Amino acid sequence: MEINGRTRTCGLIGNPVEHTLSPVIHNTLAERFGHNLVYVPFPVEAGRIGEAVAGASALQILGLNVTVPYKGEVIPCLREVDSLAASIGAVNTLVPVQGGFKGYNTDMEGLYRAMMTEGIRIAEEEIILLGAGGASRAVAYLCAVKGANRVFLLNRTLEKAQNVADEVNRAAKRQVIFPMALADFGSLPDRKFLAIQGTSVGLAPHVDDVVIDDKRFYKKVHTGFDLIYSPWETRFMKLVKENGGHAYNGLKMLLYQGIIAYELWNGVKVSEGDADAVYEKLKEHFV
Ligand code: ATR
Repeated sequence: MEINGRTRTCGLIGNPVEHTLSPVIHNTLAERFGHNLVYVPFPVEAGRIGEAVAGASALQILGLNVTVPYKGEVIPCLREVDSLAASIGAVNTLVPVQGGFKGYNTDMEGLYRAMMTEGIRIAEEEIILLGAGGASRAVAYLCAVKGANRVFLLNRTLEKAQNVADEVNRAAKRQVIFPMALADFGSLPDRKFLAIQGTSVGLAPHVDDVVIDDKRFYKKVHTGFDLIYSPWETRFMKLVKENGGHAYNGLKMLLYQGIIAYELWNGVKVSEGDADAVYEKLKEHFV
């Protein structure tokens, strides 16, 4: 693509940003659509997120993604915040509006779309969610919003699981999240579940770590979805498969959070063919 006087800029603000795969997603889509735009990483120093957002608005940046550690800190710097992002308390995508940006959380919609394309349902499902940190809290909201029947939120520290459950149940106006201590998985109902792994346990380079290492747990899992995509196959995924379940990593979540951001910035709909092409490009980084 030729960079010229009409080229628009998108990018990622965070710290660190050097290892991001988002440029692969957006620059591949721009090429396929013939859009004259580039996507670049912008490292932002601690304490300067407000300046970064104001500067991006002044420069008429077409759109931004936001990553660690600014997904929460960016919120007071925005003109508007989408309702799901506001309840989760985390924004990963900024879309220009009059005088600034509106914040969205495409991580969760991305997870949802990734699950849909794999044929994994949330509505009316019985779900186990591992962890009660920021990522799992957002997944708990997603499951509540998308109509899960029950979500058993298993965490090492029960109190944290209780706090997340109270908050999400209150927002959902129904009992949907049921907190449990990890060690008590034996008292889960006697049936099979979709299990979503929402902690950073098992992330490279600690690839042999796993939150639960007990066959009896994995016998209760028909489908395991790990939010981690590096390593390609986590120990959680291996254990799910060894015990007869299907297992998925988080790369499609990464793919679709990017696709949804691209759609918001450019007012287009990305086809399944284009999504597949981008996915193949992303996969090249894991062989
Ligand atoms: P975030 O989702 O906010 O990025 P994280 O650091 O990735 O947070 O993960 C935090 C979650 O992983 C918590 O649920 C934490 O359990 P505690 O609340 O008990 O601390 C869980 N976690 C981290 N290390 C763990 C381990 N070795 N075994 C079990 N759970 C662990």
